Amino acid sequence: MLGEPCPEELRDDGERLSVDELRSRQLSLLQSTINSAYENVPHYRAALEAVGFAPGELKSLEELSRLPFTSKKELRDNYPFGMFAVPRSEVVRVHASSGTTGRPTVVGYTRQDLDTWADLMARSIRAAGGRAGDVCHVAYGYGLFTGGLGAHYGAERLGCTVVPVSGGMTERQVDLIRDFGARIIMVTPSYFLAILDEMEERGLDPRDTSLQIGIFGAEPWTEQMRAEVESRTGMHAVDIYGLSEVMGPGVAQECVETKDGLHIWEDHFYPEIIDPVTGEVLPDGSVGELVFTTLTKEAFPVLRYRTRDLTRLLPGTARPGMRRMEKITGRTDDMMIVRGVNVFPSQIEEQILLVDGLTPHYLCVLTRPGRLDELTVQVEATPDLTDHPTAAAALTRRIKDRIGVTATVEVLAPHALERSLGKAKRIKDNRNL
Ligand code: DLL
Repeated sequence: MLGEPCPEELRDDGERLSVDELRSRQLSLLQSTINSAYENVPHYRAALEAVGFAPGELKSLEELSRLPFTSKKELRDNYPFGMFAVPRSEVVRVHASSGTTGRPTVVGYTRQDLDTWADLMARSIRAAGGRAGDVCHVAYGYGLFTGGLGAHYGAERLGCTVVPVSGGMTERQVDLIRDFGARIIMVTPSYFLAILDEMEERGLDPRDTSLQIGIFGAEPWTEQMRAEVESRTGMHAVDIYGLSEVMGPGVAQECVETKDGLHIWEDHFYPEIIDPVTGEVLPDGSVGELVFTTLTKEAFPVLRYRTRDLTRLLPGTARPGMRRMEKITGRTDDMMIVRGVNVFPSQIEEQILLVDGLTPHYLCVLTRPGRLDELTVQVEATPDLTDHPTAAAALTRRIKDRIGVTATVEVLAPHALERSLGKAKRIKDNRNL
């Protein structure tokens, strides 16, 4: 089920650029970003000097590959404001990552950066099928996480009526959706499942609500999850991608008329795909790690930021000038290696959703009872499933046949697993217990 394309007259100038116009704009923006990073951020000056790169030397987009990468480590080493390219007094907002594995990473925005972000989020919501006048329910978390406020200002910029609910209080989410008549919901796909369960437990058919569009991101989700959500709700489920270090949500967006991966807003972000091991740039179409260089950011420019997200670049479709990225399969740090086979939680999710009676509430548990890693998949049953062993056997077989690993499957009662209010935790690592 595909949606209506966004009419030409509603598109902004950036969306209408031809590939040639876009490439020449990218080159000049890239030159000014490199200059600003070199002039204003000691880390970038040192990193460019270390490879003998003088700013002003860049003559083509391909030469970007001569620059060193930036990773979370460099951001942490410069905690909190060392990577800012403008005086702190010009930074009107900061956001930060949760910092569960070390110091948080702090990112900053000038007034102009917030304006660009709102424009790109408005473009993203429009590409998802949203229009001025829609009621937009924002259930991404508000606060240091970029999801809530990013969605909020974008929806306002588009001209929506924003309902700033944030995550949590699931019963209330359902009341507000029903009472305020939201057409759009912006939320992590895993938390949306919790909202759907709540509706169904209260005897509300999600198909009867006013919701028509779900803009889901901040975590990986599969085509099978799209099929499940769309068939349960009758809504369009589209993918939104972003990361705080590069801006927040709205770096790339799936268009509702094609639902074929996410168009990267290339007039603001230059993507590359690299081999995660060697760092070599791979041609479009090859799967590897996504790397971004920002083209218009003032306070927090990033040069060749390694996202750790795995995907590939494809030619544009609904927005022909901009390349698409395929749905993210996983992050390099979420890759489980089970007896030599690489597995991502998203591959497990795909198989779960193909077994009758199982739900997409699941957790991959890793243990190391001897010398080898073992994988247990805990997955909740639907309320009407009576034969748990048969469903478990069906999933074990699918995982073995399709992914090539042996997993123990535990089928659990509904609600046995903890619900996340934001990003779901899909891996529990008990190997060092
Ligand atoms: O998650 C920003 C965001 C908010 C995106 C709301 C979309 C919607 P961070 O907390 O910095 O920022 O986490 C960024 O989340 O590197 C990916 O690993 C993952 N991620 C984000 N969007 C998607 C997506 C926000 N659509 C990290 N599919 C990224 C898969 C995603 N993974």
